[in-house]
Amino acid sequence: MTKLPAILSRLDADLEASLARLSSWLEIPSISTDSAYAGDSRRAAEWLAKDLESLGFEAALAETPGHPIVLAHRPKPGAPHVLFYGHYDVQPVDPLNLWDSEPFKPVVKEIAPGRRVIVARGACDDKGQVMTFIEALRATLAETGDLPVGVTVMVEGEEESGSVNLPAFVRENAAALKADVALVCDTGMWDRETPAITASLRGMVYQEVTVTCADRDLHSGLFGGAAANPIHVLAKIVAQLHDETGRITIPGFYDGVEEPTNQQKADWADLNLTEDEFLGQIGLKHSIGEKGRMLIEQIQSRPTCDVNGIWGGYTGEGTKTVIASQASAKISFRLVGKQDPQKIGEAFQAFVRERLPGDVTASFTAHGASPAIAVPAESPALAAARAALTEEWGRKAVTIGSGGSIPVVGDFKRLLGIDTLLVGFGLDDDRVHSPNEKYDLSSFHKGQRSWARILEALGAMKAGR
Ligand code: BES
Ligand code: ZN
Repeated sequence: MTKLPAILSRLDADLEASLARLSSWLEIPSISTDSAYAGDSRRAAEWLAKDLESLGFEAALAETPGHPIVLAHRPKPGAPHVLFYGHYDVQPVDPLNLWDSEPFKPVVKEIAPGRRVIVARGACDDKGQVMTFIEALRATLAETGDLPVGVTVMVEGEEESGSVNLPAFVRENAAALKADVALVCDTGMWDRETPAITASLRGMVYQEVTVTCADRDLHSGLFGGAAANPIHVLAKIVAQLHDETGRITIPGFYDGVEEPTNQQKADWADLNLTEDEFLGQIGLKHSIGEKGRMLIEQIQSRPTCDVNGIWGGYTGEGTKTVIASQASAKISFRLVGKQDPQKIGEAFQAFVRERLPGDVTASFTAHGASPAIAVPAESPALAAARAALTEEWGRKAVTIGSGGSIPVVGDFKRLLGIDTLLVGFGLDDDRVHSPNEKYDLSSFHKGQRSWARILEALGAMKAGR
């Protein structure tokens, strides 16, 4: 007889304790991109390894040239095997003054009658989401002494900085990571009541460029009018990345981008996502996206280019009359379809070099490149998850596309030959990557219950590993 009702009741009874566990993990500031937090990243990894060990997993930290990876196994011969992936690293917290509470002092708040949320950096992305899965494991083990499937847990600490060390790790540990399917809890729901399975993710190319003019910073009164100004050069190049219709002008950029089918267009039109609804929530009214494309198309299935940061010269208080020697920018591209991350990185660099005036040089740092992902529309794991989610939420689980990126999903397919099931419980108003990040307790709690159901449903699948 199924023990599922008992497992679900245990999760209900254990909610406050699970929240306390999540809070203690959230207190560790594991900001991957800032090396000042490297020690904290390791502590966050150790915290999770210890928790998994307490569940009877064989858990260890795997070293990489960057932050360690938490790797834990609990095999079950003869049963299907799942590889769960998440990330313990979080985004930087700046601007700090916009937080209502401290980012690494989690607080539970009621933001509307009956709607409780936990606020902290990483509350949703991705510690809260990872813990939905771990809590489901904990309750299932406590109630049954076993799991319905074999489980490998791999939680990395560099996702928010492009997962640069992960492909090599996956390649070198392919045998240990082999599974029937990968599970990822790092995506969102359709809305607060409607669960979703994500079927597509955009890819990502992230480049940093530094333009150098004179061999030193100059007095703008002495040299202004003659010496090249790297901020002007960079700003002009950045301004040329888009044309007036919102298209990206890098030659070959759109190679591999597919046009939507009529069916896809009709589905999008049915969803009727309006500028008011989508941009209204962030204080905007008008999309700056490509002309002639539906809003939902612009944010899910069209490639984009964004300058994420730009700097150079004097930015302190007051004035300084200077012509800087260097100016830099961090620029990211979201990719779709079959766009080739390698080629796009190279095409971007060529685009910049071709526009440099004489005397001016540019240097580049590549911060990771990953392709867009489309998961097959049907598979036994997908069907199992869909049924389990529908059961838990009392609403049909919908299939959605996402504009975000999770670099490892492409590596799972390419290096391990397995598909990924993307199930997450984030909401559009979670403020991920922004001040006051939160996770609804309904997502946290029903997310745990969802995974308990999904694990049981996956246990009934045929093992094929
Ligand atoms: N959890 C997000 C990805 C995501 C966001 C999926 C929204 C679905 C909806 C993930 O942690 C993330 O932010 N990834 C980065 C990856 C990048 C640094 C390569 C991203 O998308 O910017
Ligand atoms: Zn994430």
